Amino acid sequence: MGIEKLTWRFLIHCIWLGVWGVDTSSWTAEVPNSVSGLQGSCIVIPCSFNYPEPKIKPSEFTGIWFKDTYEVIYHPDSSNAITDYRHRTELVGDLRQKNCSLRIDPLHRSDEGPFTFRIEIKNYNKASYKDDRVSIAVSSSPDPPSLSVMEEVNVGEEVSASCSVSHSCPSDPPRITWSHSGTPSIQSQQQTKGQWEETSTMTFRSSIADNNQPLVCTAAYRGGMTVSSSKTLNVKYAPVDVKVKGVSSVKEGDSVELRCSSDSNPAAHSYRWHNSRGRLSTTGPTLTLENVTRLTEALYCTAINTEGQVPSSPLKLNIEYPPEIKVDSACTSDISMVTCLCIVDSEPPSTVEWSLPAGHLPSTRVEMHGSVTMVTLQRALGFSETVHCHANNTQGNATLSFTVPTNDKMFLLYVSIGITAFVVVVIVIPMSACLLTKKCGTSHSDQPVASKQDMDASKSASSDPSTSRKEQKDTSSETHANYYTNDHLYGNMEAEEDGDPYECVGEDDAVYGNI
Ligand SMILES: *[C@@H]1O[C@H](CO)[C@@H](O)[C@H](O)[C@H]1NC(C)=O
Ligand SMILES: *[C@@H]1O[C@H](CO)[C@@H](O)[C@H](O)[C@H]1NC(C)=O
Ligand SMILES: *[C@@H]1O[C@H](CO)[C@@H](O)[C@H](O)[C@H]1NC(C)=O
Ligand SMILES: *[C@@H]1O[C@H](CO)[C@@H](O)[C@H](O)[C@H]1NC(C)=O
Repeated sequence: MGIEKLTWRFLIHCIWLGVWGVDTSSWTAEVPNSVSGLQGSCIVIPCSFNYPEPKIKPSEFTGIWFKDTYEVIYHPDSSNAITDYRHRTELVGDLRQKNCSLRIDPLHRSDEGPFTFRIEIKNYNKASYKDDRVSIAVSSSPDPPSLSVMEEVNVGEEVSASCSVSHSCPSDPPRITWSHSGTPSIQSQQQTKGQWEETSTMTFRSSIADNNQPLVCTAAYRGGMTVSSSKTLNVKYAPVDVKVKGVSSVKEGDSVELRCSSDSNPAAHSYRWHNSRGRLSTTGPTLTLENVTRLTEALYCTAINTEGQVPSSPLKLNIEYPPEIKVDSACTSDISMVTCLCIVDSEPPSTVEWSLPAGHLPSTRVEMHGSVTMVTLQRALGFSETVHCHANNTQGNATLSFTVPTNDKMFLLYVSIGITAFVVVVIVIPMSACLLTKKCGTSHSDQPVASKQDMDASKSASSDPSTSRKEQKDTSSETHANYYTNDHLYGNMEAEEDGDPYECVGEDDAVYGNI
């Protein structure tokens, strides 16, 4: 064969290629050298084959897969396949389309291959593609998913996360689940060499509860294997739950340490303290109050971080102090009854009891108004000379003794009333008659002044015995300065005292004293 002939043949070959574009004339198969798959899952080996085009278009194909070159692992008649593979292999490619893709399900540890495809074309030819063999790298556990998420967000911001895994089993891709609620969307994408990528993306609005929590995506593979990846979220938020914390109750005069507690991310870097009069100088999380009194004001704190500043609600300390029996406590009487009232201010509110030297007396009425306890005793006139009011709470006790208006005094009262009646009947009425007839009389301008003075004098003289008291206090730390706070509470008691029968007597005295 001369050089010219060879050149001629080469040229013909080139023209042929130029016409058809690809070399379809050879027995070749296209498979990856190696595909990776997960034990227990499935695998699809991508495969395409070629053969020189026959003159008559072939209609019947038989595709066979071998392990090495002699053990049949797939045959359309499955009884021809070796037992180990008989029910695990399936030709998923369409041979008429020159697609020889093979599926193995489930994949066994030993399915490493190499595997060879063979095609038999009826009324034409047959070939094994021994040069294009494929091996399987079988793994016993999949790689962890690749998780991407913006880890640092401000509270309320949208967080979007995506999680992807690669796999070899397109008919049963891994199921991806999230530790956080949301609506995920799934995308599948084919990669090279028999690998597919499954991606789940999810968005959700970040909340405080998400801070410092792991966001986990889990991929569950066919066959039951699961793998997961996790990232911890850092959600920034301004202080919440800002509270002044400290002891709930404290003794008057003690010092107390209060703490500004809050939850924030990042942690609060400074604090402010306020009471109703304004800002205090402390800027730390703790505040020490020396010598608290019942007048110590409610206070609040403000916690500040990079995200904002938030005040607490005010805290009023519960200051405990021993009972103090108020000066308005007294016994008064009317014609038939004695009424004793004991007014006690203390925190916690006191137990208040009445007693005689002989023993305990049940109270008639008990009223509580915050720290003030008002206890009334009502008895028939003359039941006793003295009564005691005892008050105690956890901080101490106090006792006050009252002198009760007696029958003797009441006798004098009756006598006074009698005399008054006599004076009115015997002197005033005749005098009035005199005035009407003779215009007899004295200097009227002096009378009101004298009358007022006498009245005041007799009032204090006569009211003294009925309200006399001897206080025997066992406690020393009482603060009278705070008494004003309760004034309004026994305002009506003072009104009752205005109706004191002794004052009536005093006025009566003034009437007949002037005459
Ligand atoms: C071959 O068939 C498989 C299974 O049907 C399919 O996934 C793949 O895309 C096909 N390959 C080509 C090159 O068409
Ligand atoms: C506490 O305060 C009271 C009233 O303001 C005062 O009388 C007392 O001396 C103070 N005690 C101390 C230890 O500062
Ligand atoms: C007050 O005294 C009574 C007895 O007098 C006692 O039973 C009670 O427990 C005392 N209360 C307090 C708070 O100390
Ligand atoms: C009253 O208090 C004093 C001490 O403050 C105590 O010694 C006394 O026993 C108390 N009395 C009663 C009846 O509890």
